[in-house]
Amino acid sequence: MKRIFLIGYMGAGKTTFGRELAKLMNLDFIDLDHFIQNRYNKSIGQLFDQLGEDKFREIEHKLLQEVSEFENVIISTGGGTPCFYDNMEIMNSVGNTVYLKADTYTLSKRLNACKDKRPLIKDKNEEEILHFVTINIAKRELFYNKARLVFETEELTSKEEVSKYVASLKEKLQDTNNV
Ligand code: S3P
Repeated sequence: MKRIFLIGYMGAGKTTFGRELAKLMNLDFIDLDHFIQNRYNKSIGQLFDQLGEDKFREIEHKLLQEVSEFENVIISTGGGTPCFYDNMEIMNSVGNTVYLKADTYTLSKRLNACKDKRPLIKDKNEEEILHFVTINIAKRELFYNKARLVFETEELTSKEEVSKYVASLKEKLQDTNNV
């Protein structure tokens, strides 16, 4: 039975990688944010606005526990998922965890281009996003670094590049006997 969690900062490519890796490994794919949105029939932005972040984190924790029972699956999580409750311990105890790591500048650049659906940064300008990411990632890495495997990515500009990285991640997982 295989269960792999992809964790990492917003914009690290968790969903893109998860979808591709699942195809390559012939596993199912679940994106935790999408799972939450479908369950509540609301966007992540609406959940933040209407219920507040604390309640969102409670929902996220509850639904993480639910998807943690699925088998033969790649699960991409939200950027904050590992940093609340005992979510990191849950993931490490029931499956394999991969931290998709990218540098602050790459992340900030990507996030500038698609910040609207992300409540934590949607009202920030380019400079503020870079500042926020720099400070926030330092705190979050305490949790991200608990992952079993750290996989570094650089700028991913083409589909071919993503596929190359995903294939290399698959090999790493197999090499380290992590699946
Ligand atoms: C968040 C990341 C988002 C989403 C929510 C909060 C975070 O997911 O869960 O906006 O705290 O970093 P992505 O990492 O997929 O953007």
